[in-house]
This record gives sequence, C-alpha cells and structure tokens, in this order.
Amino acid sequence: MVFGKKEIVGLDIGSSAIKLAELKEARNGYQLKNIGEALLPPEAIVNKVIINSGAVVEAISTLVKDLGVKTKDVAISISGHSIIIKKVSIPNMSEEELREAIPWELEQNIPHSIDNVNYDFQILPGESQEGNMDVLIVAAKKDITEDYIAVANEAGLNPVVVDVDVFALENMFEINYPLTDEVLALINIGASVTNINILKGGVSIFARDITAGGRQFTEWIQKEFNIGYDEAEKMKYSLRLTGISKELDRITRDFADLICGEIERTIDFFTTTSLKETVRKIVLGGGSSKVPYIKERLVERIGASVEIVNPFKNIIHDVRDFDPEYILDIAPKMGVVIGLALRRKGDK
Ligand SMILES: Nc1ncnc2c1ncn2[C@@H]1O[C@H](COP(=O)(O)OP(=O)(O)OP(=O)(O)O)[C@@H](O)[C@H]1O
Ligand SMILES: [Mg+2]
Repeated sequence: MVFGKKEIVGLDIGSSAIKLAELKEARNGYQLKNIGEALLPPEAIVNKVIINSGAVVEAISTLVKDLGVKTKDVAISISGHSIIIKKVSIPNMSEEELREAIPWELEQNIPHSIDNVNYDFQILPGESQEGNMDVLIVAAKKDITEDYIAVANEAGLNPVVVDVDVFALENMFEINYPLTDEVLALINIGASVTNINILKGGVSIFARDITAGGRQFTEWIQKEFNIGYDEAEKMKYSLRLTGISKELDRITRDFADLICGEIERTIDFFTTTSLKETVRKIVLGGGSSKVPYIKERLVERIGASVEIVNPFKNIIHDVRDFDPEYILDIAPKMGVVIGLALRRKGDK
C-alpha cells in the first residue's frame, strides 16, 4: 500500500442508479468515509447509452451535495456493448514492440475502426503456448466514454481514471478476499448489464459483459400488471419480504432462468475455449443478485458454489457512522463503486 497518494472518489454511473464511495487509507487498511446512491429515472440511461444527460448530472450533483463530498477527482467506469475485452496469444516480444503490434491485433478482433476506440492492454502472467504470451486487450468506444466523462464534468467533477466494471470488481475482490488457486467467477447482475470476470490465481483469464439484467424483469412486471416503472421497481424490492403472487412468481422464475441461462452459456464458452478450466466458485453481486431463484439456479446450472459478495469485508466501517443493516443491504450492488474508490490518480 502506498501512503500519501491522493485519494479519489469512486463514481459508478449505473443505468438504474448513481453510486458513490470514498475510502480513506488508514494504517490498518481501508476505511469507509462515504457511501451512497441516487436513483435515476428509467429513460436517463438506456442500454448503457446516456439519453437524458441532464437527469444524470442532476443525480450526481445531488449525491455529491447530500454526502458532503469535497474531493473533485473521481474514477468512473463503463461497461456493456461499447467495451470489448479480448485475450490474444501472440509471439513473445518486448513491451515496446507489443505497443506497435496492438493496433493490428485490435483490427483483427474488434468490429469498430480503431480510430473510434480507446484501448489498453496488459501482458498476463503465467504459462502460454511455447514462445507466445497472453495479452489482455480492452477497447472502449470513444463516443460512449466521452459521454460518461461529460456528465461527471458537468456535475463539477474531474474523472482522472476511466475503468471498466469487470476490472473494478476484480480490484474490489483483491482487497477483500484471500488469494486462491481456484478458478472463480465474479458475476455482477446489474440493471442492464451482467459483468463476468473469471479469475485464476487472482488473475483475470476471461472477462465479458452480457447485455441482460434486472431492467428486463422490471419491464415484464410493468407489462403483466399494467403498472409504471417506479411501482414495478418497488414490487421487485419487496419480493423477499412479502408473499409472492402466482403470476409474479412465474415471471420471477422466468427471469432467473433467462439470466442464469445467459451466464451458463458464457461460462460454457469460457470452458470450451480455455483448455477445459472449470469454474468452481461464483462470487455473486449486483442489485439483481437479490432476485429470488437466481442463486439456486446458478448452483444447479454451473455446478459451482455461489457466495454473495461483500465489498466491505475488509473495509473498516464505523457502526456509529454507518448502520450495519444498511451496509448489509446495499453491499451486493456496491462492488464496482468500491473497486473504483480504490483506484488512485495515475492508475490506468
Ligand atoms: N432487493 C432487490 N430485489 C430485486 N431486484 C433488485 C433488488 N435491489 C435492486 N434490484 C435491481 O437491481 C438492479 C440495480 O442493480 P445495480 O445497482 O447493480 O445496477 P446498475 O449498476 O444501476 O446497472 P448497470 O450496471 O447494469 O448499468 C435494478 O434492476 C433493481 O431493480
Ligand atoms: Mg452496475
């Protein structure tokens, strides 16, 4: 841990809500300074594209004001179809040579012109085929990235790190969970996107965003009961608390099947393309991880153990400042924002 590095605020611009977290580096680890969420109207961000930037800016500004955040430097992230993460195997070369080879590799691997993307890469440790090395390439569409930076700017903030959700999750996981050789999957089921990051020995060996999430479930409920977005969202939140009607139970099961089917397909793809690595454990999060049947279906379909993520596991949080019940309730959906709050200026 490096002391004295300037702290920055984690700002997760999700499609259902803005989440913000601030951490302080204490002698004995990280300490929670601030955490909160501001809901967005349904039409503000659709399929991860910012449609109503005014609503997003307002939600960010309100959250910053309500939480009394003074720091302006923030880490934001993007996810969904505007991101492409690819692992490629290329002949061993120096980092400099690699930097020159990457644009060519990108052209082969992405459907967009490389002029329209921002990209980064990382050489993966561990064994590859003889004479080759594995490189993880991340490309993000420039226009989408610029839209996310713009709303933060308009809210008076200064994005100094632009991350992607799957790697923020990995960052969060690293400081909260012990290193293991096991192949495990971090899965975050949000409103529009489900992020999957498969780690082996603490290193990402596969990452993908599936464009499916809880928003679809909300839309099904709206249609079935002929109600508005807010009411349908409320219904979802109370699924575990009140009795569930037969119709709602059917839709809930259908949704769990849809999401878990998508996750299963992605993990199957990973297994067949990775020399038969098997996911033994799933660490599950995102707001939609709370939907009944999801956890059970994943255990059945993937044959892995499933644990709900706790991004505050190793983060000191004073019970006088943060109600433990509140923290427990919000924990599963705070994975990305905690990962972002751990970033420091100058990080890639
Ligand atoms: N208790 C709950 N039961 C069922 N669904 C829930 C519950 N709490 C939150 N959700 C759902 O989880 C979703 C929000 O999750 P999350 O905050 O992880 O998404 P997001 O970050 O806004 O979206 P994305 O990352 O996909 O852009 C919403 O669809 C919401 O209805
Ligand atoms: Mg999210």
